[in-house]
Amino acid sequence: MANDLKTGLVPTLGDRVGFSVNGTPVTVRRDHPHLLAALREELDITSPKDGCSPSGQCGCCTVLVDGKAIVSCQQSLDKVAGSEITTLEGVSDVERDAFANAFAACGGLQCGFCIPGIVVRAKAQIDKKGAGLKREDMARHLGAHLCRCTGYVKILDAIETVAKGQTPQIVSTGGLGVRVAKYEAHALTLGDRGYIDDIRIPGMLHAALVFTKHARAEVLQIDSSKAVLQPGVSAVFTAADVPGELLMGIIYKDWPALIPVGGFTSYAGDVLAIVVADSRLNARNAVEHVEVEYKVLKPITDPREAIKSDDIAVWKTDTNVLSKSVYQRGDVETAFKSSDHQIIETFSTQRIEHAFLEPESTLAVPSLENDARKLHVYSGGQGVWDDRNDIARLLNVANDQVTVTLVTNGGAFGGKEDMSNQAHASLAAWLLDKPVKCTLSREESFLMHAKRHPIEMTYEAACDSSGKLTALRVRALGDSGAYASVGMKVLERMAGHASGPYQVPNIDVEAIAARTNNPICGAFRGFGANQAQFAMEGVLDRLAEKVGISSWEIRSINVIKPGMVWGPGQIMDDGCLGAELCLNEIKPAYDAAIAAGKAVGLGLGLKNSGLGNGFKEISKAVVRFKANGRIEIRHGWTEMGQGINTVAAQVAVEELEVDASFIDVIVDTTRELGFGQTTGSRGTLMGAGAVKHACQVAIASGREVEVDHIGEYRVDWTNKLGEPGVVNPIIHSTFSYASQMVVIDRETQKIEKVVAIHDVGRVVNPTLCEGQVEGSVHMGLGYALTENFPSDPQTAFPTNMTLRSLGILRAKDVPKIEVKLIESPQPNAPYGIKGVGEIGLVPTAGAVAAALHDLDGNWRNALPMRQMKDED
Ligand code: FES
Ligand code: FES
Repeated sequence: MANDLKTGLVPTLGDRVGFSVNGTPVTVRRDHPHLLAALREELDITSPKDGCSPSGQCGCCTVLVDGKAIVSCQQSLDKVAGSEITTLEGVSDVERDAFANAFAACGGLQCGFCIPGIVVRAKAQIDKKGAGLKREDMARHLGAHLCRCTGYVKILDAIETVAKGQTPQIVSTGGLGVRVAKYEAHALTLGDRGYIDDIRIPGMLHAALVFTKHARAEVLQIDSSKAVLQPGVSAVFTAADVPGELLMGIIYKDWPALIPVGGFTSYAGDVLAIVVADSRLNARNAVEHVEVEYKVLKPITDPREAIKSDDIAVWKTDTNVLSKSVYQRGDVETAFKSSDHQIIETFSTQRIEHAFLEPESTLAVPSLENDARKLHVYSGGQGVWDDRNDIARLLNVANDQVTVTLVTNGGAFGGKEDMSNQAHASLAAWLLDKPVKCTLSREESFLMHAKRHPIEMTYEAACDSSGKLTALRVRALGDSGAYASVGMKVLERMAGHASGPYQVPNIDVEAIAARTNNPICGAFRGFGANQAQFAMEGVLDRLAEKVGISSWEIRSINVIKPGMVWGPGQIMDDGCLGAELCLNEIKPAYDAAIAAGKAVGLGLGLKNSGLGNGFKEISKAVVRFKANGRIEIRHGWTEMGQGINTVAAQVAVEELEVDASFIDVIVDTTRELGFGQTTGSRGTLMGAGAVKHACQVAIASGREVEVDHIGEYRVDWTNKLGEPGVVNPIIHSTFSYASQMVVIDRETQKIEKVVAIHDVGRVVNPTLCEGQVEGSVHMGLGYALTENFPSDPQTAFPTNMTLRSLGILRAKDVPKIEVKLIESPQPNAPYGIKGVGEIGLVPTAGAVAAALHDLDGNWRNALPMRQMKDED
């Protein structure tokens, strides 16, 4: 017997290890790297999630070991032999319901990936302390956990509810403006609603990827002869096996799914081969046996040098200038000369990582239907129609041979717009004619997907003696990394939003996106607006000081109003009333904080909803009354925690006057409903518009059963940035607005409070809306203070390769967040909706910089503004 058993129930012999799980004695293979792998891979217990194994830094895998909450990816099997393991599957129904109801009622979850682990930790604490559990103590215990969605506010509300034995009121149905519990909240809280990595299919194989060891190198040879001989390996595939197109991409097809022999790597996330085996462990072990010969080249890592160089950084491209976004209005030079005050400042922002809690996972399942080969792909991507099209191109098959089903993902924030391992799982499944799953490790996820752009921005601004802005010149350079992704659009958005929510009569903006061999940068919540408005808010505060007026006054003097011309020339409509409303709404709190002697910083922001910039946006939805009495709502948007499925159901309840319990919300590519990515805060705006219209079509037809009632919402009237000769270029159809105030205690020098006033046009679901803002403020504070994802200038490889090193704020470090939602409807938008996904972190960094300046008199031009403390 290998271990001294505590339970005496389970033998531990030879290659088996015994313990008890949820009251049942079990034995598992000894070769699992940790307890989490044994639970998930052998016992198929999937409520503990894998967000970072084996590093133990996210808390998603927390289980009870002999009653203590412990991260299971850090437990060797020998250590837990003979122990009593409890997962949420083994908790009593009464307790499960108590947690699920509390999280649903309080809005304590968004994507839900982190929640089962947090519930286990909360249970352990409540078991110990009962109603005496203090909120701040629980926040400290959550130090072992990361939640990237919620800002922890509503998580702690939910835990308090359970600790106090309160019975929360769950609203299960309702139309617009109702605090309906999140769709699938119960199952998400308990870890029962499977993510892709939780799906098991008989005969399923596992794929692991071989990543390049050099960010810029010629690939001379790939030798997989040893790898194919490793235990359990079915095949090793390289670019030579791709039947169709190698290059993928949302806008430009420049991103190779695999780098072939004779090709060149262009960043640290390039993939050279796919190993397929009978288990994840065997696939990963065999990866080490794929031998690659490189001719290493010096990576191009400085964007300034890149745009001047003829040495092309990225394989199969012909310039290092990815894009240049330019526009001018008025006469900047003359305005500068006649202005009373002028400043010039250079601001720089850092690259950061999305750190969604669920690493990318794809499952591809081939089949034969009526003698035709088909592939069904389960994807967590933000644009399943784009995924389908690129997968079909890669396999050289017709689009209708590929169906992609969206599996609600565990967070994305823009980081799941580009294809990642969808291509590799699909290729392997197609070639082997077997189901194949590919799930990235945390490190692989860091390497592969696109990040937030670091941008250097020089702002030259002027105002008159009253503080009225007269001129603005901006020159910006963003490091977009290797492949295009949507980098050119991010810099275009940065340029468009360069002046923030203010009127500037003379403006001259140029923003360049550079290609380098650094990590790819693309979509990330805020999409260039954050960087621009960190700079613009800093400019305003400096000018206010020169003029001798307050931060609030200079914003009030310059805030955009209906009929005024905004940044790139758009004449703003009544939708922009929200900017001034947000500013006025925050004034009493601002005055009070100053009167109380606090260090205070103010930020005002705007963020477009929808892509705009001349892009034709069409969203469709289907309402189908089933013969069995259920109602299908099909739409084209990705649920990634933000609540689009809940919004879709609420709109259907509003229009059809039915109970939500009859509604099923579905997203797949069997119907052509999609038009691009779930991005740009447009899901609620366009999804609600399309579902509303589909409901109206259904009602008009008498609610005919088993018929697709198709609705559409269309925004195809916007103009391109800098389009010559357009008098009123409508760059964006819709904007949302927010004012935020950061309050720092002068004694402790800690941020004690953030007040966030948000105009989202129309609040569809107040709980979800508040949750979006709280989560964004948490992300915005991290962006302002501590988050960073640098890369080595010599190798172009990222240097912060653990979750902990990213600088994300933990629960105990999140200040009080007071959210107030206001409704200033957007004319012509469905219900007046404006969108809420991104605006919440647009004004935050500027407000933090201003508060820190008020604290110590130092202006800050670079993010992040504080380094992580040692204990972090
Ligand atoms: S998966 Fe174990 S702590 Fe993240
Ligand atoms: S709900 Fe916590 S990570 Fe998404």
